[in-house]
Amino acid sequence: MIKAVRGMKDLLPPETARWHYLETVARAVFVSYGFQEIRLPLLERTELFSRSIGASTDIVEKEMYTFLDRRGESMTLRPEATASVVRAFIENRLDQGAEVKKYFTMGPMFRYERPQKGRYRQFHQINCEAIGGEAPELDAELILLLMEIFRRLKVTGLELVVNSLGCPQCRPAYLMELTALFARGLRDLCPDCQRRSAANPLRVFDCKSKTCQELLAQVPTISDKLCDNCQRHEARVLELLDRFQVPYRRNPRLVRGLDYYTRTAFEVVTTQLGAQDAVAGGGRYNGLIKDLGGPDLPAIGFAIGQERLATLLSQQDADLLQQPLLFVAVLGEAARDRAFELVQALRHQGYVADLDFTNRSLKAQMTMANRRGAAWVLILGDQELADGRAPLKDMRRGEQHLVSLDTLPQILADLQPELKGV
Ligand code: HAM
Repeated sequence: MIKAVRGMKDLLPPETARWHYLETVARAVFVSYGFQEIRLPLLERTELFSRSIGASTDIVEKEMYTFLDRRGESMTLRPEATASVVRAFIENRLDQGAEVKKYFTMGPMFRYERPQKGRYRQFHQINCEAIGGEAPELDAELILLLMEIFRRLKVTGLELVVNSLGCPQCRPAYLMELTALFARGLRDLCPDCQRRSAANPLRVFDCKSKTCQELLAQVPTISDKLCDNCQRHEARVLELLDRFQVPYRRNPRLVRGLDYYTRTAFEVVTTQLGAQDAVAGGGRYNGLIKDLGGPDLPAIGFAIGQERLATLLSQQDADLLQQPLLFVAVLGEAARDRAFELVQALRHQGYVADLDFTNRSLKAQMTMANRRGAAWVLILGDQELADGRAPLKDMRRGEQHLVSLDTLPQILADLQPELKGV
């Protein structure tokens, strides 16, 4: 038997209904905030990611699916979407016009991490980026948007964690100070952090090793060293979160796992997912577009992990999005023929209808309808054909009514609205 690749999982019903539901809700929220969808290739030149995410991050150092294509060019399956969005933005000259450009995209990402619950090698993100706006109101808007998605999906028990990572005015001095501090206590850092601390000292904050964490408890954080502009920016973002009653926790040690962030950085975490507790993460990346050869435009974005979000959703809510199914149970050849016609006509009018072709007993067909979650079952045999009327069983209420076959679409139209809850 050929099995799926480790860390890559099949998405099957009924879970697909949860995904459909969360994507539909997210799309609706994005649209109401003025975001438009873009779809991008899964494969990019390796350099795009090493230059944007940062050469000494975990993602670039050890998690990328990188290979040489047939012409010997280094290609990488995207580990995240921000770099690709920026590449597409620059390449397609999307910077025309002064307004903030707002995009969302959904799809698979690839990271060669150690698979565990909530962590996969192919996973999916709902990603959103706003390019061309510097104002702290935009940071607040994105966080409000993110929390609105969770609110509409009725996901509770989340915590928003925020920090500011400074800017090119204030961060370099802080990093120098940090490097010097680490150099003095270098022997106590884990080997990974020892190696990285000179090139990228902020990465140490992401290290899970206990000794590194203990060392970090004593060092100043970037929050203590922000310049006036960064302080003002952060204060305004937090003020807006307060105004809109979005609870948050400031964590001056939140650094995120990617190097492109400036100023606002945030994560949404939950205690319901075990070790992989981040449902979403994001932040500002004011220098990235210029660094990748584009115009000097500020930007901010976030990504939600779809696998993690899906596990927090109720199946019942997701099922509400499904159109109710009418299952036609048949007895005999003539009835099957008529049922096929009926089902086709209903489908043509946009209803969800199905029947069985395997010649099962009525009992077996009822079981089938139940398993499929049918809202109604129409029972059609020779007698019903002759009468032009058949019993329609309402599976949720357990009631049964005789209905005329000619007026079935009308009857369904009348029944449908009360079942559509979303
Ligand atoms: P990230 O924090 O690396 O940020 O990923 C965002 C979310 O993707 C995480 O919070 C998590 O829910 C999910 N995720 C990450 N890795 C895995 C995995 N191996 N398995 C399952 N889920 C995972 C970014 O990717 C940034 N591009 C976000 C961003 C957009 N920043 C600005 N714009």
